[in-house]
Amino acid sequence: MLNVNKDTITDHVIAALSPDIPDRNRQIMTSLIRHMHAFCKEVDLTFAEWFAACEFLRRAGDISDEKRNEFILIADILGVEVLVDMLDHRVTDGESESTVLGPFYRENPPVLPKGASIIKKTFDNAQTVKVSGRISDTAGRPIEGVTILQMDFMDDAAPDRLTEALSGAADLVLSDMAANTVGHQQTDHLRTMALVEAGLAFAIDVLRPGGAFVAKVFAGGADAELVAEMKRNFTTVKHAKPPASRKDSSEWYVIAQGFKGAGSKAVDLDRDARASADDTSADGMSEVGDGEV
Ligand SMILES: C[S@@+](CC[C@H](N)C(=O)[O-])C[C@H]1O[C@@H](n2cnc3c(N)ncnc32)[C@H](O)[C@@H]1O
Repeated sequence: MLNVNKDTITDHVIAALSPDIPDRNRQIMTSLIRHMHAFCKEVDLTFAEWFAACEFLRRAGDISDEKRNEFILIADILGVEVLVDMLDHRVTDGESESTVLGPFYRENPPVLPKGASIIKKTFDNAQTVKVSGRISDTAGRPIEGVTILQMDFMDDAAPDRLTEALSGAADLVLSDMAANTVGHQQTDHLRTMALVEAGLAFAIDVLRPGGAFVAKVFAGGADAELVAEMKRNFTTVKHAKPPASRKDSSEWYVIAQGFKGAGSKAVDLDRDARASADDTSADGMSEVGDGEV
C-alpha cells in the first residue's frame, strides 16, 4: 500500500507519469507538478479556493472557441505570455526586444479612459511627429535579402516598384495595411476595402500558382464582391482572427490560399481601386462568418 501524504504525494504523482512520454514532456510535467505542489503548500490553499480556481478556468473554457482563446488572455495578465516570449527570443547581442521593451516602449505610460485617443494635440499648432528607422542586424548591416520601399501602396508606381524588387513570382502577398480611420464606419470600411482590393490586384499579378494572399480587414470582413473575386482566383478563402490580435480590436484577416494562376483572372480589379479610396457608400458588406466565407 502506498504511503501517500503531503510530503510524499509529489514524488508519487511524478512517478505515475507514463514511461512513454517524450523527454521534453517529462521535463515540463515534472517541473510543473513540483511547482504546483510547492505553490499549494506555500499559500496553504483551501479546498474552496482550489474549487474557485477550477470554476474560473471552466468559465474561461466556456467562452473560448477557435477564434477566442481566453487562456492566452489569462497567460497575458499573469505575465506568462511576455515571459515566454522573452525566454524564447532571448536578447543576446544588444538587439531590440521582440515585445514590450521594443523601440517604442514608454516607461510610466499615461492611463487614459477607455476609447480615448493616444494622439495628443494639446497645442493649436501641434505638429505630427514622423518616426522613421532602419532594420539592421546588431552590427548595423542591412538584413540580407530584405528590400524596404517606403511609399504609398496606392501610388500608381508602387506595384511596379514592388514587382521589380521581387526576383520572380511571389509565394505570398501579405498586407497589414489599414487606412487611417476617420470614425465614420462606412468610410473606414471602404478605405480599408480599397487597400485590400489593390493588394489583391497586385497579388493576382505577382503570385506563383499555389501562392497565398493575406490581408487585414475589419469586423464585417471583406466585401462579398471581393470575396467572390478571391474565390475565383484561389482554392480556399477564409476569415480569421489570430490569437496575437487584441480581442478589443476589430481587425480580422482574409486568407486566400491556393492561387489558381494568372489565367483564372475573371474580373480586372485594377488599380482603379485606388481611385475609390475616398468613396463613402458602403454596399455589400459581408458578415464575418465562422471562419469559412
Ligand atoms: C496596423 S498598421 C501595420 C503595422 C505593422 N504591420 C507593424 O507591425 O508595425 C497599418 C499600416 O498600414 C499603413 N498604410 C495605410 N495605408 C497605406 C498605403 N496606402 N500605403 C502603404 N501603407 C499604408 C499605415 O501607415 C500603417 O503603418
